[in-house]
Amino acid sequence: MINKALVKKRFSKSLKTYEDNAVIQKIMAKKLIELLVLKEYNSIFEIGCATGILTKEIKKNLTFKEYIANDIVEKSQEYINKIIYPNIFLGGDIEEIELNKKYNLIISNASLQWCNDIEKVLKKLINSLEEKGTLAISIFGDNNLKEIKDIFHLENNTYSLNKLKESLAKYKLITFEEEEIKVEFENPIMVLKHLKLTGVNAIKEVVLSKKKLQEFEEEYTKKYQNNGKVILTYNPVYIQIAR
Ligand SMILES: C[S@@+](CC[C@H](N)C(=O)[O-])C[C@H]1O[C@@H](n2cnc3c(N)ncnc32)[C@H](O)[C@@H]1O
Repeated sequence: MINKALVKKRFSKSLKTYEDNAVIQKIMAKKLIELLVLKEYNSIFEIGCATGILTKEIKKNLTFKEYIANDIVEKSQEYINKIIYPNIFLGGDIEEIELNKKYNLIISNASLQWCNDIEKVLKKLINSLEEKGTLAISIFGDNNLKEIKDIFHLENNTYSLNKLKESLAKYKLITFEEEEIKVEFENPIMVLKHLKLTGVNAIKEVVLSKKKLQEFEEEYTKKYQNNGKVILTYNPVYIQIAR
């Protein structure tokens, strides 16, 4: 089970540092927009908007009449107001909030992997699309942060991508593609800092003693060093569905 209180706490804390460190999420936001077949919409609903990395791409590349934003962290609204105003802000957990309107485009970048039941959420979102509407999301695959998962013995995603793809087969699946991006860091401590500054350490509360931290550094360097740098893998997955 995803600890939602922890997700909220970590992302609230990292709001100020998120944008400067979210290099991969920026690449993903651009690609998500590029993959969209349509660039014109009446209403756009963005989930997990945070500081507005995707929101800026939406403003730059799409035309729309109405923009609605959501995040479990209510403070996100302050960031979004500076990008698209007026807007409608629906604060809260997307798994819990009721959606009683229909939208042309429902879009989410690097956020829905924090859901306990992603299949159920996607079904709810597809049901909230207007006729011929589009759902476009990016999430992460099994190999995401594989080095961290390996060393800390963390569970993999709460969802299986294959199962997710099967459950989406009854819809008009326009895109289902994944990629691997390797990021280099000076040392394993910089990897941990990067994860903290982007809030991605919301997976689990891990307290490291001095000894454990040293063991982590040694194991990470031994297993994942390449040409004097250590590697961290990101595994974005892009899904686009038309109603
Ligand atoms: C990695 S950030 C991505 C932010 C943004 N979409 C971007 O492109 O940079 C994930 C965001 O999803 C939000 N989030 C996580 N779980 C959520 C949920 N269940 N409902 C709504 N927002 C959620 C977090 O608060 C955080 O702001």
